[in-house]
Amino acid sequence: MTPPSPMQNLNPNINPSLVSNPVSDPVSNPTPILRVRNLVTNFRTSAGVQRAVDGVSFDVARGETLGIVGESGCGKSVTALSIMRLVDSPGVVEGGEVLYDGVDILKLPMAQMRRIRGNKIAMIFQEPMTSLNPVLTVGTQISEVLRLHEGLGKKEALDKAVEMLSKVHIPMPEKRVRAYPHQMSGGMRQRVMIAMALCCKPDVLICDEPTTALDVTIQAQILSLIQEMKNSTGAAVIMITHDLGVISEIADRVAVMYTGHIIEEGSKMDVLTDPLHPYTEGLLNAAPRIDRDCEELEVIPGAVPNLAALPKGCHFRPRCRRAMEICRTSPEKTCLGEKGGRSVSCWKFAERAKHAKHEGKGERT
Ligand SMILES: Nc1ncnc2c1ncn2[C@@H]1O[C@H](COP(=O)(O)OP(=O)(O)O)[C@@H](O)[C@H]1O
Ligand code: SF4
Ligand SMILES: [Mg+2]
Repeated sequence: MTPPSPMQNLNPNINPSLVSNPVSDPVSNPTPILRVRNLVTNFRTSAGVQRAVDGVSFDVARGETLGIVGESGCGKSVTALSIMRLVDSPGVVEGGEVLYDGVDILKLPMAQMRRIRGNKIAMIFQEPMTSLNPVLTVGTQISEVLRLHEGLGKKEALDKAVEMLSKVHIPMPEKRVRAYPHQMSGGMRQRVMIAMALCCKPDVLICDEPTTALDVTIQAQILSLIQEMKNSTGAAVIMITHDLGVISEIADRVAVMYTGHIIEEGSKMDVLTDPLHPYTEGLLNAAPRIDRDCEELEVIPGAVPNLAALPKGCHFRPRCRRAMEICRTSPEKTCLGEKGGRSVSCWKFAERAKHAKHEGKGERT
């Protein structure tokens, strides 16, 4: 099948002018604000140790959107929660570094981490009710963030909360600021979360499936809003989703996750038009497209394996159409381009990497 062009809008409801991103320019603005290195998070359960995040590394620069995509259970949310130091027991971050502006925030005292969380690095969750307090008005909740992190007075913070509600296009913000979360629709609550996440102008915004619970028109509006906000603040965005349509609309770069690993990474254009890993290929074949009949959709056979009983060698092997004998050995991560270029963890590309290295175009690690 022909993979979709990333410029091809999979969701006709999105405003195309918001898809282009004037702030993101990896050439002129290459310094990563967030660097994740060899992150490891385990859940020690009665069923055994589940390594939900297994050596994840990536960078994200100011003004850039990194899309993290993969089926349910691949470790996307645990990666985000590990960065925020919000993993609940029995989960423990057992290794790696999360460098925010060069400082490993995994090692900071909790009091210092709380000053960064919500202020410098903010997160939006799939279900806003998990992070909104049902017994406080949305105005009080936004004001509290502003008073805590920005040191604003009560009146000043409430005025700013109204301004933020207006920025996220909530009608009648002076009235809505006095509403409780349950008096709002799902889309409206997600806008409140975005307003709350962005009120301190964070350097990094992590969005974990922010549109999954919303209907398609509202989804498009929320994605446009995140893009619009990012363009005005220059934040780095990590967009976590199982939906390649969302990636095609909003990401600059894409990391594909499977069983706690990033198995492919590259620019959106490269990954969506020329997927290398058979898993990425499978996800693309399974994604609905406006230029293709639904009957043409292919599903990836099987399911994501239980992390406590992973297959030997390449974890994707039982589902892979291209599996070879060597795949019983874990594939090494193969870098196929210059620094910051493409990488893939698959034996199919070992030879290509060797040639690239020979010709001085890339390296194999
Ligand atoms: N509270 C938990 N207890 C035990 N295991 C967990 C828990 N939360 C997550 N996991 C493990 O981590 C894996 C990845 O979860 P998650 O990051 O939420 O996946 P997703 O990619 O869907 O966001 C799960 O498949 C599960 O094995
Ligand atoms: S290493 Fe082998 S089994 Fe794994 S994805 Fe590549 S071809 Fe398939
Ligand atoms: Mg998740």
